[in-house]
Amino acid sequence: MNRAFWKEAVVYQIYPRSYQDSNGDGIGDLRGIISRLDYLKKLGVDVVWLSPVYKSPNDDNGYDISDYEDIMDEFGTLQDWEELLAGLHERGIKLMMDLVINHSSDEHAWFVESRSSKDNPYRDYYIWRPGGPDGELPNNWSSIFSGPAWELDEATGEYYLHLFSRKQPDLNWENPKLREALYKMMTFWLDKGVDGLRMDVINMISKVDGLPSVKRDDLEPGRLAGGGEYYMNGPRVHEYLQEMNREVLSKYEVMTVGETPGASVGDAILYTAEDRKELQMVFQFEHMDIDAGPGGKWEVTPWSLKGLRSILHKWQVGLAEQGWNSLYLNNHDQPRMVSRFGHDGEYRVQSAKMLATLLHTLKGTPYIYQGEEIGMTNVKFPVLEDYKDIEILNMYREKVTEGGGDHDTILKAIHAKGRDNARTPMQWDDSANAGFTEGTPWLKVNPNYKDINVEQALADPDSVFYYYQKLIALRKEHLIMSYGKYELLLPDHEYIYAYTRALDNEKWLVLLNFSDARQTVQLPDELASVRETIISNYRDEPAAVERDTLRPYEARVYRLSN
Ligand code: NOJ
Repeated sequence: MNRAFWKEAVVYQIYPRSYQDSNGDGIGDLRGIISRLDYLKKLGVDVVWLSPVYKSPNDDNGYDISDYEDIMDEFGTLQDWEELLAGLHERGIKLMMDLVINHSSDEHAWFVESRSSKDNPYRDYYIWRPGGPDGELPNNWSSIFSGPAWELDEATGEYYLHLFSRKQPDLNWENPKLREALYKMMTFWLDKGVDGLRMDVINMISKVDGLPSVKRDDLEPGRLAGGGEYYMNGPRVHEYLQEMNREVLSKYEVMTVGETPGASVGDAILYTAEDRKELQMVFQFEHMDIDAGPGGKWEVTPWSLKGLRSILHKWQVGLAEQGWNSLYLNNHDQPRMVSRFGHDGEYRVQSAKMLATLLHTLKGTPYIYQGEEIGMTNVKFPVLEDYKDIEILNMYREKVTEGGGDHDTILKAIHAKGRDNARTPMQWDDSANAGFTEGTPWLKVNPNYKDINVEQALADPDSVFYYYQKLIALRKEHLIMSYGKYELLLPDHEYIYAYTRALDNEKWLVLLNFSDARQTVQLPDELASVRETIISNYRDEPAAVERDTLRPYEARVYRLSN
């Protein structure tokens, strides 16, 4: 057992724009976060991951950076940031910054130079290609935010690559000068005392040579296609990460997690096996794709526990000996977990706690997304105008305004999968705008804030909040939660996810009911031993005869002894 801080830690993600506004402009800011540090301390988390706070024109809410070494005006100043870091450290909490280095903003000085002429020294900081003889795009890749992944730039008559919005040009990692500049920037923050880095789409930094078009028999000429096979987990990505590790990461005590859509278990081992000196863990996406249809995330399809369990199980087993898992069920890009995997009506509280139990008792490092700890839910805004996310708006334009698709169908998909579900302001209390701002919030507050808010949660000893607090505290007490060997039970059960964790002479049993009905389980005889409850989301113990029946969304964690 190779102990490490980052294997035992619990991380809490803050999306600064939506956490707490301190100056009435309707946008969350650093001073707002500072005012909530005691709340985080009370919850007990070890690390705060801050979504980007750097200077940005906010085409993609800070994931488009125009100055990597300064703070976004709406969020405050570098001095506020220093104060936030000090405030976290005083409370024994570490700070993980978001590192967005697959692309920058088109307003970054490097890009302004790069686009100015073909022989500018910064030209090769980005990926430029001429069009075809008849003005065709350099290849047929589509952008992840809809439309082509290429934008023609009038100044030089060439196209630049942008896997995300046209205001997020991809950086050219083939250029050693660019890499060096990025390493210097990372050093700037690490020297300031940053403790961790979450690396945005880090498995997209190396593109296949020649940037080939997607070839598929069913693809009509002129049609766009994903192209992920040419830029996810690309040919030089491990070389770059090892270089980054050598040049920067190895010189600091730094916690790292890479965001890696499309990474398999095999890829994850390559990114995270300790002897390879790349990253500590990655965010895999397989379980996030579980309700996507063949046409992608907006083609919402039903998911089943069997499907979800088989993915999570595969990752548990796959990274048991080498590498390390991150554990998450939502973040700023995903719908709220209680609406997606639990029950956001009658069983909201029970199912939020059940999912929390899963996150804290699988093997890996749990990541909590702001508001998850009070069971915040998805939102159903009635009109498109209420939505702000560029991914949603571009998709709607492509599918409905230009594509003639059905408005109601797409609005329903946005309600289920839109990123703004996660970005509605944090619900602090039942006052106007949920205590998030005294002005007009940049994105509307979820109307259920009168019932679901922090003040209410702190006043109720049985709340989702205190359940999270207990789970986090348990992880500090019991190494088995971080390091115990995971073993699946009842692999075919339709509604129950059951497993054991074992470390030295200790064994725990975890039973999770993913349905709104009672479910009876038949456990192997050797587990029918004396059980001591470690945590459970129903207040009363089940009657002895009902010991193997789980109530709706019930979660039970037992210590077994013979
Ligand atoms: C992943 C981030 O989490 C997401 O919010 C962003 O839009 C894209 N990467 C592009 O940076």
